[in-house]
Amino acid sequence: MTVTCEIDKGVALITIDNPPVNVTGLAVRKDLMSALDTAEAAGVERVILTGAGRTFVAGADAREFDLPPEAPHLPDIVARLEAFPAPVIAAINGAALGGGLELALGSRMRIAVPGVALGLPEVTLGVVPGAGGTQRLPRLIGIAPALGLIAEGRTIRAEEALELGLIDAVEADPVSAARSLAPSALTERPAISALPLPQPDEAAVAEARAAAGKKQRGQEAPPIAISLIADSARLPLDEGLRAERAAFLDRRGSDQAAALRHVFFAERAAASLGQDGGVEIATAVVIGGGTMGAAIAYALAQVGVTVALVETDAAAVERARANVGKLYAEAVTRGKMTEAGAETALARRHSFHAGYEGLPQADIAIEAVFENLDVKRAVFAALSAALGPDTILATNTSYLDPNAIAEGLENPGRFLGLHFFSPAHVMKLVEVIRAKDTAPETLATVLRLTRRLKKIAVRAGVCDGFIGNRILTRYRQICDVMLLEGALPAEVDAAMRGFGMAMGPYEVQDLSGLDIAYANRKRLGWATKPGHRYIAIADRIVDETGRLGRKTGAGWYDYEGRTQTPSPVINAIVTAESSRAGILRRPFAEDEIVARATAAMAAEGLAILDEGIAESPADIDLVLVHGYGFPRWRGGPMHQAERQGLAALLGRLEAYAAEDPLSWTIPEILRRAVATGQPLEDLTRTS
Ligand code: NAI
Repeated sequence: MTVTCEIDKGVALITIDNPPVNVTGLAVRKDLMSALDTAEAAGVERVILTGAGRTFVAGADAREFDLPPEAPHLPDIVARLEAFPAPVIAAINGAALGGGLELALGSRMRIAVPGVALGLPEVTLGVVPGAGGTQRLPRLIGIAPALGLIAEGRTIRAEEALELGLIDAVEADPVSAARSLAPSALTERPAISALPLPQPDEAAVAEARAAAGKKQRGQEAPPIAISLIADSARLPLDEGLRAERAAFLDRRGSDQAAALRHVFFAERAAASLGQDGGVEIATAVVIGGGTMGAAIAYALAQVGVTVALVETDAAAVERARANVGKLYAEAVTRGKMTEAGAETALARRHSFHAGYEGLPQADIAIEAVFENLDVKRAVFAALSAALGPDTILATNTSYLDPNAIAEGLENPGRFLGLHFFSPAHVMKLVEVIRAKDTAPETLATVLRLTRRLKKIAVRAGVCDGFIGNRILTRYRQICDVMLLEGALPAEVDAAMRGFGMAMGPYEVQDLSGLDIAYANRKRLGWATKPGHRYIAIADRIVDETGRLGRKTGAGWYDYEGRTQTPSPVINAIVTAESSRAGILRRPFAEDEIVARATAAMAAEGLAILDEGIAESPADIDLVLVHGYGFPRWRGGPMHQAERQGLAALLGRLEAYAAEDPLSWTIPEILRRAVATGQPLEDLTRTS
């Protein structure tokens, strides 16, 4: 049984017990109905509804969203709670989210434990509340606060909920509090269905729409939720509930909901890494105190690791100290810690060293020096000499070959890549790179650390750029092909932004600097690489104009302060390159730009799967969504390709390859998937 019903002295205590988080799957819904039957048959005077464990109800069972809905439906249960012959009190012992909060809204009173989370986060999964949330919540707390909660899917604590009137009391033991309520306190209280319609609030609705258009650009569920809430001010409850249910069922089957569920499950799978084996890291050495090293050191210190930061000389040490200090100062400004707390953490958890002399022993060393093979090799040689033979050695390299960096290392089983994203203390993603000799124990310890850092760890094998930067490189390459054939940078950026990318590919380059990719192209010898369609535009920009992006005040765009405008200089280089290649430039529509760019990303992801570099298509999606601004609500390039049909992707790639065989190749795994009809997940080589 997933629900128990204990009857004592006219009170039915109904407890939802569906570990781990009491989601309202079919079994719970059926058992809840039976429990209510039992309570009704016993003629109880009051019902207390609560959850076992540390959660009230965390929401619906998202796994059921891919199946046809089965009765009893949650709205039926909420309606029954509301119409129950005896008053129902929700004793909210832990988080009440989504369907959980809707059950509480069907109750006559709500009493919650201090600090618990309450909310209707449905839009974050691409749906709208489906069991009365958009209708009952505005009746209870008003249109504007309801919009604030539902449209952004924000969760709040019990104390804020009390202020809003969403709950009636905050009590350490809500079940006892519910038992001891005077009967008059309950009879006086109307059900939410008996409350008058909420006051219309046009201004709040307009504001919510504008905010959704900005913050949740491209997402379909938030505006629908906003309309439902707005309509609660004019529709009778049953009509509003019908409209809400129809919208919920429609959203439930939508592409966006499928994509958001996919990312949600992929994140959950990633979050389960790092629970088995390995040892706890207490001390670390970070080498290089620049952008990455300082932020990595700061992040480690926040989870209680003591960090020794190594720089080359006294002046560099001072710069590194300032870099780390700045991160603490920012945390103080944001109210994340007090000034005294920051000072204590800096003094207790950080030390700074010029060179390796006197360096304390450490459980792990993370290298974040210049992206140069010789420099990195020298660092690891020095680390081998300075630290014990068991210290885990990690490189944060973006593009260099970790196996080459590790060459000659004593005990190479302790070596691996740990590719953080910038800013490293903020970005959730980290690629954990298995080098050729990395021992399972090393991997387990590092995954335990990334879990402690609350990162989303994605394991990857060694290849140029690993998962993320390899796909990024390919994406940029295809965008450059489109420039050569007729598109302009601003058109490509606008199309990709329209698709939902946080920024267009050329804007991103201006932000991160054109020199990084430039150096990488030189290293790989792209200009003379056989079988490769080399496009000289980006190299010419660096060589001839010295425009390296925002940091030099100009790059793919011209800049006036923060305003970017397309540059005649760049457009001239683009068109000159087309003429040099004898290409008659043609217009590119936005959807063609998007189709080609996303096909390139998907094709590269497929090659990565085929080579066993990534362990699953979902891992690739996590990397793109969390590291590269791919719209979460499209699920990532692999999810999107499968949702749209792999046969369609194959057809497109074949057409592109026929026209330009140097730029397009068709990964073998795609042909296999289309021929066998098997999902990519099943075709992935586990390495
Ligand atoms: P940075 O130039 O900001 O910092 C590098 C630091 O290393 C400098 O402070 C320098 O003084 C120090 N350094 C150089 N040689 C050293 C040595 N032999 N011993 C000790 N310290 C030394 O560079 P950034 O951006 O922090 O990058 C560092 C590494 O992280 C590179 O491998 C880069 O590819 C990688 N990376 C960078 C990302 C980014 O967005 N900036 C993202 C992910 C990885």
